[in-house]
Amino acid sequence: MSSQGDGPSEPGPDTVEPSSSSSSCPDGDATSTDIITVTVGATVPTGFEHTAAEEVKEKIGVDARISKDRGRIYFPITTDKLFQVHLLRSVDNLFVVVEEFNHYQFKESKEETLLELQQLASKLPWTNALEVWRLNRTLKKKKGYRKGGNGTKLKPNSGATDAIVDETEQQEPPQEAPAAESHAKAEGTPDTESSMQDSEEAAPEVKPIKFRVTCNRAGDKHSFSSNEAARDFGGAVQEFFQWKADMTKFDIEVLLNIHNEEVVIGIALTEESLHRRNISHFGPTTLRSTLCYGMLRLCKPEASDIILDPMCGTGAIPLEGAIEFNSSFYIAGDNYDMAVNRTVNNICHIQKRRADKGRASGLPIDTVRWDICNLPVRTSSVDIIITDMPFGKRMGSKKGNWDLYPSCLREMARVCRPGSGKAVLLTQDKKCFSKALSRMGGLWRKLHTVWVNVGGLHAGVYLLKRTGAVFGQTPEDVYESRGAVNTQGDKKDDEELS
Ligand SMILES: C[S@@+](CC[C@H](N)C(=O)[O-])C[C@H]1O[C@@H](n2cnc3c(N)ncnc32)[C@H](O)[C@@H]1O
Repeated sequence: MSSQGDGPSEPGPDTVEPSSSSSSCPDGDATSTDIITVTVGATVPTGFEHTAAEEVKEKIGVDARISKDRGRIYFPITTDKLFQVHLLRSVDNLFVVVEEFNHYQFKESKEETLLELQQLASKLPWTNALEVWRLNRTLKKKKGYRKGGNGTKLKPNSGATDAIVDETEQQEPPQEAPAAESHAKAEGTPDTESSMQDSEEAAPEVKPIKFRVTCNRAGDKHSFSSNEAARDFGGAVQEFFQWKADMTKFDIEVLLNIHNEEVVIGIALTEESLHRRNISHFGPTTLRSTLCYGMLRLCKPEASDIILDPMCGTGAIPLEGAIEFNSSFYIAGDNYDMAVNRTVNNICHIQKRRADKGRASGLPIDTVRWDICNLPVRTSSVDIIITDMPFGKRMGSKKGNWDLYPSCLREMARVCRPGSGKAVLLTQDKKCFSKALSRMGGLWRKLHTVWVNVGGLHAGVYLLKRTGAVFGQTPEDVYESRGAVNTQGDKKDDEELS
């Protein structure tokens, strides 16, 4: 068991504050101005854990630890630097760690295990984590951090793993009350809506803290389900703090992450995943902005680079680039009118948001309708190509990729600067991509592959470097029509594989 940088006054598992005092409002009674150190956990796109750790080092100056549980990193932070965690672009969700157990010995039977989880609730060192939750909330309020009209809504029965977060109406958090009042109200008002209205008219400060527990569990040796763990641990948290359980309109989300024998209890610092930050007009395969950020970091954009996303869909990649690496210029293109329209709308939405906040609204990005196989762009004029190719599942077809992939690699090679140009290409159609690339050895060299999870699909992000060969002088430049190249065998292999 390891505990989180708690100060000497921190109640440990064996020195528990009575529930009546610990239920006092963490938000209403800010007495502590001491800087404390806590551990912050972040979920990140699977495969980009190292990129996220690199960003943490760069922006916060601390070393992040990569969890055995893929897609998570942990790093220490002092409360005076709390705002900096919200500047990270590679993280989806953030939470403050209450306690972590690296080798939790689960009991044999389900009943014993669940009972132990219940007992654990009152033994945890909650104080520092709750203080960070309170500070975080103040920070968000100050910055107008809550996006207008956006709150969180969970699928019914979503206290357990794979809870899906949707955008919905903004839910202003209620004011919390001191402990005694909080108890009284919690006991007297089982109905959330009416209790809120009543308390607004009579005594607005008498609102209980609402919470929920979300359990994420991975591992095949557990005798219990995530639902059971969330239910029993949640019940004990409720009893200990006298908070009110509310699955949708909660103030505090307690996280119970169980990965094999690693158990981490945390409090969420983000209400909705940060990957949704840029996109208002979604398409069928919109990429998470956090994954886009990881892809952009791979190609290390430099000032005045010309960067193309030739199959931009909703524009998630170039938009993230234009915001975060804004000394480059981005051209977003697609051959589908609706995709181009969505990109334009997404750009306009961000420009308006920036203008409303009084920030310079212009973004270094332009949009065009084009065909990747025939780009209206001068030979050797582009520094970086970054794109999310049709996987052939929800977008395009596996069969079509056997024509598309070689053609687009060739056209990308034409427009990319020999010797220095780069491409970062995402695809799940790995076999087709590898075959196409192997025929382009004279034009592209593969430097690195990052294996990622895109909506449950195992995909590769390929970092390619343009060789020094002048386009038009290698055998790969010759257009290989489908009839001229024997791809039939490849297609058959592929169909057998899929
Ligand atoms: C996987 S989606 C890209 C999704 C995008 N990254 C996003 O976040 O919305 C692939 C895109 O390639 C486009 N596409 C397919 N064939 C194309 C072609 N020949 N030229 C240009 N775009 C093409 C599709 O219209 C689709 O929008």
